[in-house]
Amino acid sequence: MKIIQISDTHFSPSKPHFNGNWEPIRRWIEQVEPDLVVHTGDLTIDGADQEDDLVFSMALLGELDIPVLAVPGNHDVGHMPGSHQPIDDTRLDRWRRLVGPDRFAKDLGHWRIIGLNSLLLGSGQAEEEEQFNWLVETLADLGGRRVALFAHKPLFVDDPMEGDTGYWGARPTERQHILDLLSAHDVALYASGHLHWAWQGKVGRTKLVWAPPTSFIIDKLEREMPGDRLIGGVIHHLGEDATSEIVEVPGTIAHVLDDVIDEVYPRTVSTLPGEAAE
Ligand SMILES: [Fe+2]
Ligand SMILES: [Fe+2]
Repeated sequence: MKIIQISDTHFSPSKPHFNGNWEPIRRWIEQVEPDLVVHTGDLTIDGADQEDDLVFSMALLGELDIPVLAVPGNHDVGHMPGSHQPIDDTRLDRWRRLVGPDRFAKDLGHWRIIGLNSLLLGSGQAEEEEQFNWLVETLADLGGRRVALFAHKPLFVDDPMEGDTGYWGARPTERQHILDLLSAHDVALYASGHLHWAWQGKVGRTKLVWAPPTSFIIDKLEREMPGDRLIGGVIHHLGEDATSEIVEVPGTIAHVLDDVIDEVYPRTVSTLPGEAAE
């Protein structure tokens, strides 16, 4: 079975900078003929506040004849408390109305494919605990299936024991709760987006994959991270185990955020470093 993961498309009808990469990405997906496409968030430039961004993006995804499941990114439903767009019920409701559920579990053969709303982790939202309990239940009843987990944010950037990286990864307490579940249920794969870097690694027995964006890479605006800057997607082959192939998709343009940030994500005085991007 094959799953294509795409991430960080950052589509918008009013800020069309990255929309042009959809055509080569769509052609590539159709050539590969996966059983499922999973979008790991930042579907939009600003779905957190612009309904039109979500409507437009769903119309593009709807061009595929292949089933698509999506989890939200910070630009779709907001981010941490205290950020300029905190995740809240209004934003979550908008995603659910226009895109679908913000988490999912789907069985394909002897695999359970789980999508998690990683923006809830550490948010203090009432739904954070509800989602965690749902995840515990979903993992408790696998019937012998292996698990591939998809989410927007990675659990960590450099080290599973690192402190709070704020914008980039999960906070230590919530990270540990998820790491404990990955270990307890021998989860095969945790695949994420958000960083706009492509990388593969491992934590315990779980493979980690950062999908590349389909939109933009970042030059000097942010720190260097592990892996590669490229535009593309990931083919996950799910057999006895999970193996993942990061693909630089021909025909795409590697836009550089540094060149367009003032048009796409205008920085305000109150914007913290790193707040504007990814
Ligand atoms: Fe993001
Ligand atoms: Fe992003």
